[in-house]
Amino acid sequence: MNSRMWGGRFAEGPDAVMEEINASIDFDRKLFPQDIAASKAQAEMLAACGIITANDAEKILHGLDTILREFEAGTFTFSRALEDVHTHIEARLIELIGPAGGRLHTARSRNDQVATDLRLWVRDAIDAIDAGLRDLQSALADKALVNATTVMPGFTHLQTAQPVTFGHHLMAYVEMIGRDRGRFADARRRMNESPLGAAALAGTSFPIDRQATAASLGFDRPAANSLDAVSDRDFAVEAIAAASLTAVHLSRFAEEIVVWSSAGFGFISLSDRFTTGSSIMPQKRNPDAAELVRAKTGRIVGSLTALLIVLKGLPLAYQKDMQEDKEPVFDGLETLALAITATVGMVRDMEPNKAAMRKAAGAAYSTATDLADWLVQTLDMPFREAHAVTGAVVQRAETLNRPLHRLALDDLQAIEPRITADVYGVLGVVQSAASRNSYGGTAPANVRKEARRWLKRLKKEGVR
Ligand code: ARG
Repeated sequence: MNSRMWGGRFAEGPDAVMEEINASIDFDRKLFPQDIAASKAQAEMLAACGIITANDAEKILHGLDTILREFEAGTFTFSRALEDVHTHIEARLIELIGPAGGRLHTARSRNDQVATDLRLWVRDAIDAIDAGLRDLQSALADKALVNATTVMPGFTHLQTAQPVTFGHHLMAYVEMIGRDRGRFADARRRMNESPLGAAALAGTSFPIDRQATAASLGFDRPAANSLDAVSDRDFAVEAIAAASLTAVHLSRFAEEIVVWSSAGFGFISLSDRFTTGSSIMPQKRNPDAAELVRAKTGRIVGSLTALLIVLKGLPLAYQKDMQEDKEPVFDGLETLALAITATVGMVRDMEPNKAAMRKAAGAAYSTATDLADWLVQTLDMPFREAHAVTGAVVQRAETLNRPLHRLALDDLQAIEPRITADVYGVLGVVQSAASRNSYGGTAPANVRKEARRWLKRLKKEGVR
């Protein structure tokens, strides 16, 4: 007889290749603490329902604690022949406490076990990511508050468009990350149902208490349909989908950090802690952390694709294909957590070069819209006409090779005689940014208000 846990009806052991393709222990050992927690909840429930004796339950709980300690101390022995984390723990339990250990697997299957373990793991990962994103929001809002008046160019098409404040730019990411956190929170709410007790696929004839195991593992309720409970991986897809979009946001910011820190822009300097040097060019400082955050997005989005394709076309209920869900889920969520931490570090350490930002903010006639708005507001000109007049002024400035605020009043009046010296009040970049005080606009007063509002809210969440 084959000595494996399921070997009762097998005469021969598996081929070496079968063992290799079948074993998940190299990666699912990550579920070790979750598997122990779910097994303890199961044992306590079995005893409370009179399915196993209190004495056996006590031996099981004690054994599981010992096994967890072995795992944490690094003394637990893994072997491919034992396939996965579930059989490893059960086999060791039987080795430690004898036949009582064999009673733990009553009224459960590896199918509801793995579904439970993975949910617990993803739930913890979401909580860790949320804490990281909260840190990132407060790093951004802190930096925004001290840069509420720091003027920089705002771009469309990466062409200088209008002056904005650096604080406003940073606060844009605070908003994005707020939505990312909302998506993770939604996913967490939906996933918080317990598959445990669905057993292999059909439920069980033992008088179990699924409410009890659900409650003791922090789930809101047991999943209502046993077939769905063992084959649902929506929760993992939702988490990885939220991670993918978050990673896309981080990559956009990372790209800006790369561009801003380049010599051509010179808008920010990054710290030694998040840059590296070149092995040949002694003068170089490379924004590697930002580049890697940008690149890791590929892995994270790849995880989403891998997971969706593993699930596509799977009939109910459990299929072994589902074992392939773990590596993308682990890698995608762990990679995102790392990218978030690196981004927090870069934000906290980055220093804006205010003079360079301000100079660039005034380049390329960035206050032309302010001139057009002035013509509308002061001379009651229709905006379309003001646009045309301003276009002629820009052309004149180009010919004279001067910025708008350096044009003589005569030059301006040659194009529109009603223009007065008052116009110079709106042509500077600082005035331009300050004037955009509509709700959600870039004016320093808005930025300060928004940064303070977020910081207050984030602080409150921090002590939750
Ligand atoms: N290692 C398996 C997985 O990750 C556990 C479930 C195995 N179930 C089974 N019926 N073979 O999916």
